[in-house]
Amino acid sequence: MAYLLSKENFAKIGEFIYRKSGIFLEEEKHFDKIAKYIDKRAAELGMDSFRKYFFRLRFDDKDGEEFQELMNAVTVNETYFFREKDQFEVLVNRILPELHERMPAGKPLRILSSPCSTGEEPYSIILHIVEEGKVVEERDIEVVGIDIDSTVIQKAKAARFTERSVHAIPKPILSKWFVKKGLGWELGEELQGTVDFHVANVFDKTQMRKLGKFDVIFSRNMLIYFDDASRKEVAMTFYDMLNPGGYVLLGHAEYMSRIVSVFKAKKIDNTLIYQK
Ligand SMILES: C[S@@+](CC[C@H](N)C(=O)[O-])C[C@H]1O[C@@H](n2cnc3c(N)ncnc32)[C@H](O)[C@@H]1O
Repeated sequence: MAYLLSKENFAKIGEFIYRKSGIFLEEEKHFDKIAKYIDKRAAELGMDSFRKYFFRLRFDDKDGEEFQELMNAVTVNETYFFREKDQFEVLVNRILPELHERMPAGKPLRILSSPCSTGEEPYSIILHIVEEGKVVEERDIEVVGIDIDSTVIQKAKAARFTERSVHAIPKPILSKWFVKKGLGWELGEELQGTVDFHVANVFDKTQMRKLGKFDVIFSRNMLIYFDDASRKEVAMTFYDMLNPGGYVLLGHAEYMSRIVSVFKAKKIDNTLIYQK
């Protein structure tokens, strides 16, 4: 059976997705995924053409639900605890002590995980902070996680993880902070609610501004889905959201020097970090 989506219309919806979310879809790689999604969604809405679906998405979506459904379908949410682990160690051993030293007493230290997917990244930050212990005893640390996909944010809030997701957590840490539940693991009560999660699009300036200022921003494995212009826009948004001297950490395949030149790059124990 033919799809409702034609190659020509793929270009139209691809452009719409790109403009609204920065996600750059390629016809060769993503046509089938988007076409299947539109067939399914149009059937649910009782529509028989791409035109009707696209009209609803663009002009009849006042509460943004249709766009949210589409985002939930197109995003790639791959993540796991302690991914690119060296960065968490640099955070607790080098960055936090330095920020703690130079920040006025009583001011909380704020860390943003953008994007956080199902929560493994911000909870890995929390686990490293509580395990390291020194700074957290003397200073409030707030961790915020955001993602454009509302289904992953729901899962992050539920704090239940698969065996695969926790595979890289050392066993003593896993049994100390998690409870085995059925086939997976649930975050223990002490750490429940330690991350403040929100659905937010990094291209939505109002949503991003509402989150406030941060001292550290983790933005790992999202910019790879964007093109250069979108990467630049997001990098500048992060720059504006950082307090002076704050840091950005990117995924291992992402380099700030290729995007913007406003940050100072520093190498600590083979980990690149970028300072405002
Ligand atoms: C591969 S995951 C990375 C998760 C985590 N940072 C990590 O490295 O394990 C990429 C996430 O980026 C999110 N994302 C894509 N575009 C976004 C946007 N415009 N605003 C916020 N999040 C976005 C996706 O929903 C997805 O959950």
